[in-house]
Amino acid sequence: MNMDIIFHATGGNPEAWLNSLQQAMPGANIRVWQEGDTAPADYALVWKPPAAMLRGRTDLKAIFNLGAGVDAILQLGDALPAGVPVIRIDDAGMGVQMGEFVTHAVLRYFRRLDDYAMQNREQLWRCLAPYEKEDFSIGVLGLGVLGNRIIDALRPFGFPLHGWSRTQKDLPGVICHSGQEGLDHFLRASRVLVVILPLTAETEDILHHANLAKLPRGAYVINVARGAHLVDADLLALIRQGHIAGATLDVFREEPLAPAHPFWQEPRIRITPHISALTVRGESARQIATKIAALEDGQQVIGLVDQSRGY
Ligand code: NAP
Ligand code: GLV
Repeated sequence: MNMDIIFHATGGNPEAWLNSLQQAMPGANIRVWQEGDTAPADYALVWKPPAAMLRGRTDLKAIFNLGAGVDAILQLGDALPAGVPVIRIDDAGMGVQMGEFVTHAVLRYFRRLDDYAMQNREQLWRCLAPYEKEDFSIGVLGLGVLGNRIIDALRPFGFPLHGWSRTQKDLPGVICHSGQEGLDHFLRASRVLVVILPLTAETEDILHHANLAKLPRGAYVINVARGAHLVDADLLALIRQGHIAGATLDVFREEPLAPAHPFWQEPRIRITPHISALTVRGESARQIATKIAALEDGQQVIGLVDQSRGY
């Protein structure tokens, strides 16, 4: 493929990326974008790009996001060239990681391994009453590409499963809810809440005090989406009151999480540094190459972002 591609990935390893991309698209001229580079390009491949990279680039045929969430691109607002499609990574190895991460967290709570870890610190040898599966419903907030992979991973364990999305879904073995009115039923039913929504104007701060308080007493929260879904102080207050039993947080409003953030001091909060599903370079490069070939051929591709909807 003879074409020009500009690349920028904040926090990524450009050499490793260029290597994978060049293998997937041997004929393409791929360059790391530098400040001031306005030379023509057919495609931009980006993760958290600077506004200057994309501003005015109406010559682009498409912008590929090197991850699933497009919030950092759409937040560029006017700097995003009008009419240029934005295409996200569609699973490409992230789904299996999400399944592993969430299943691990759910089983840790269900088998009370967090409670036993607390007992370890006090050298306490004491059996705790096991939880019953029928009392341990799992609610997955967001039933898109990754929400579905999480549900697939959880299905074999036999927990009651609930899901919530904007449009109504029909998934085997899952009680599906949708819309605002469905959210209340969904939250009241979810002993474990798994958040895998895109960050949009509608989903920012969605986990505020009133919504979190609808979860049953003793609920757990697992956020693997974006930190800005969650109102940090409201989660902390409900944990300290004993309404929420614990949280597993992979994403934060500001990353890295500041040393002074109170989450670090709360033993019922588990913290990981945004690793629940990492972009798999080789697989993603091959997916992008396949999509570029399809676009060049005049075909449609999956993963096209609806910019007015925000995901
Ligand atoms: P997706 O395929 O776009 O799915 C999004 C889901 O959320 C859809 O089911 C959608 O409903 C639902 N949704 C969106 N807005 C809603 C609203 N206002 N009310 C109710 N439901 C709403 O996204 P994905 O690939 O599953 O990824 C989800 C997010 O995970 C990404 O945007 C990213 O922020 C995050 N992520 C995090 C990591 C990590 O390492 N922590 C890794 C990858 C992704 P419809 O089906 O009705 O449209
Ligand atoms: C990671 O957070 C992603 O959105 O792919």
